[in-house]
Amino acid sequence: MAVFPLAPGSTIAILGGGQLGRMLSLAAARLGFDVLILSPEAGGGAGRVSAHTLAAPYDDPEALRTLAGIASVATFEFENVPAAVVEALQALGVEVAPGPLPLAVAQDRVDEKTFLNASGAPTVAFAAIDTLADLRNGIDRLGAPALLKTRREGYDGKGQTWVENHADIEAAYDRIGRAPAILEARADFVRELSVIAARGRDGDVVAYPAGENHHEAGILRRTRAPAVLSPATREQAETIAARILTRLDYVGVIGVELFEMKDGHLLVNEIAPRVHNSGHWTLDGCEVDQFEQHIRAIAGWPLGPVTPLAQVEMENLIGAEVEAWPKLAAEAEARLWLYGKGEAREGRKMGHVNRLSPLKG
Ligand SMILES: Nc1ncnc2c1ncn2[C@@H]1O[C@H](COP(=O)(O)OP(=O)(O)O)[C@@H](O)[C@H]1O
Ligand SMILES: [Mg+2]
Repeated sequence: MAVFPLAPGSTIAILGGGQLGRMLSLAAARLGFDVLILSPEAGGGAGRVSAHTLAAPYDDPEALRTLAGIASVATFEFENVPAAVVEALQALGVEVAPGPLPLAVAQDRVDEKTFLNASGAPTVAFAAIDTLADLRNGIDRLGAPALLKTRREGYDGKGQTWVENHADIEAAYDRIGRAPAILEARADFVRELSVIAARGRDGDVVAYPAGENHHEAGILRRTRAPAVLSPATREQAETIAARILTRLDYVGVIGVELFEMKDGHLLVNEIAPRVHNSGHWTLDGCEVDQFEQHIRAIAGWPLGPVTPLAQVEMENLIGAEVEAWPKLAAEAEARLWLYGKGEAREGRKMGHVNRLSPLKG
């Protein structure tokens, strides 16, 4: 059983072997922990900077037993970890953080929006879609265009399609393979923001200043942070994040994606129960970055300061863009983070660059 605060020298398990796992592992190492990566794919970017790697499916009983023999605390870098895996780890005496509730909520877009609204974190109006008739009724109620998203497993804009008008209803349903879905009213937002926040084992909550996010082709292109916000909007963002964390009895870092509406009020788009791409600016822009913050939280350490030290523009390096590394490495104000992935496939996040400038007022 884990004893908190977890002592340096202990091993933390991370489920998932991509860039988020890699940056979590680097942060854990700095605090004196070893990391075990469990991932179905051998040789990922996370495993190569970690003390232990297990290449096995997440639900492999043998792998989970091995993990439990080495690590007393486990976390994950992606939200689609099966609930059964979390239960199996808990049965083996491993502390899993964040726990099964945040995972379940974040895995299903209908459950997520239902939870958010019940927690005082407002969202767009929505309808659960199980049949073509549901979709017709949904469009009647929410109007067109409206956004149809699969309930589960969407990311980077995948599994989403706009229902343009009544005539498009059947074709749109076909475009998402008639999967269980959510229909969302169109958010007429002026900006997309996100707040990265954390809750410790003692219930302490911190929130980084919000960043402003720009997407291209459904993928995060860049984040500018800290975003300039009115005091009322800033307070709203922090209140929303704190409500979500507290209601979920959360331990660790969470990403809360927000729409800023014309009148300044905020709607929650979605939550990610993990460190988040839009928080990468904290690596070079804050006293304690989101990765160290997550490790501190799950290890039962005190949370660190979220004070910004610089204005940061974080730009993702997607696919072949990473080939610009020699030029980026020569830019004085650019901090380069490369994920150690082999092949620069189209749409694949290969690294990011943080460009720093002095903090605005
Ligand atoms: N209801 C909505 N109205 C308008 N735009 C939306 C809506 N929902 C999502 N989007 C746009 O699509 C992007 C991706 O949607 P999101 O729900 O965040 O899915 P993903 O899991 O792929 O990130 C958002 O960042 C936003 O730009
Ligand atoms: Mg999103």
